[in-house]
Amino acid sequence: MQRAEPYLKTMKDTGRILGRSVKKAAGICAQNAETMLKETLSRAAGANPDDPAGDFGDPAGCGRKNYAVVTGASSGIGMEFARRLSLEGYPLILIARRRDRLEALRRELGTECLLLPADLARREDLIRLCEDLVGRRIEVFINNAGFGVSGPFLTTEVGREIGMVDVNVTAQHVLFKYILHRMEAEGGGTILNVASSAGLFPAGPYMSGYYATKAYMASLTRGVAEELRQAGSPVYVGCLCPGPVNTEFNDVADVSFALPGISAEECVDYALRMMARRQTVIIPGREIRAAVIGQRLLPTALTVRIAAAQQKKKMEEAAAANAEAGEQT
Ligand SMILES: NC(=O)c1ccc[n+]([C@@H]2O[C@H](COP(=O)([O-])OP(=O)(O)OC[C@H]3O[C@@H](n4cnc5c(N)ncnc54)[C@H](OP(=O)(O)O)[C@@H]3O)[C@@H](O)[C@H]2O)c1
Repeated sequence: MQRAEPYLKTMKDTGRILGRSVKKAAGICAQNAETMLKETLSRAAGANPDDPAGDFGDPAGCGRKNYAVVTGASSGIGMEFARRLSLEGYPLILIARRRDRLEALRRELGTECLLLPADLARREDLIRLCEDLVGRRIEVFINNAGFGVSGPFLTTEVGREIGMVDVNVTAQHVLFKYILHRMEAEGGGTILNVASSAGLFPAGPYMSGYYATKAYMASLTRGVAEELRQAGSPVYVGCLCPGPVNTEFNDVADVSFALPGISAEECVDYALRMMARRQTVIIPGREIRAAVIGQRLLPTALTVRIAAAQQKKKMEEAAAANAEAGEQT
């Protein structure tokens, strides 16, 4: 015990210092976001909806002036939302980092698409995006961009995790608030936050940070949806919580799925039908709906252990696939 005392003291000191730094960093982030939001919102309030900012020109030839905006439109679920909303006649505003992908999608759709490439992990890109949206009437906002990091928390790279929190939490939160303010002022609209079924489980060992980011957006959306309901708001907000969907998500997160994935088409088709019914939490896919409901009947600790076992299996399968691919090259 005597030998452990200096160690314990160091741990306590480190804890105090870390605690102070985290509080200070959180304060700075909150101040930046608050100032940015206030400035951008006041500009938005003063802007003329018929006089869009930027040099994109008005949506033409589509008979509709209100935009549908999709973040993370360069791939997967976001790309499919863009396809479907374009078919419904919306002029689109598409956001992601990979401009070439967005340009290819614009060529494929052949309808009005404004491209606003942005890295949503970067605060300056987020601010620029809010500014570029000023003056454009937005009817549908698909808050979708996100990615996962997998592995034991002790080994995952903190920089990548901070990037994940910046995109999955900070950017989604700021855009949600910003667009909601605008839609309230403009008399209505639809916002879909893309979280994950991961956010509806108590925790996801070996992908703990990702599960936590998705729990944040699921909880935030549910809370705000109730506030809006009580206030009689004309704005609908929903939260899409898919299980496995076959997109580029796995490659980015370096995992494979425990359950077979559904297609992005199936996911988006179901989401659009439930959005039309103004459902708050949307879970596409029968199996994952059953899993989400079923886990509520189990003790939390058991659910977390099952999630750990599944996640471990996914990582092992991914590692084996990577090793096999390595041998073949
Ligand atoms: N696939 C699944 O199994 C699954 C399940 C539940 C929830 N989700 C959620 O669904 C959403 C879409 O994922 P997906 O499955 O369609 O995966 P995906 O195919 O990898 O697409 C992710 C999209 O997010 C964009 N993105 C990532 N980081 C970004 C950044 N820093 N700035 C701007 N855009 C960024 C990507 O564009 P760029 O790389 O071009 O920037 C891409 O368009 C995510 O929020 C994900 O968490 C997916």
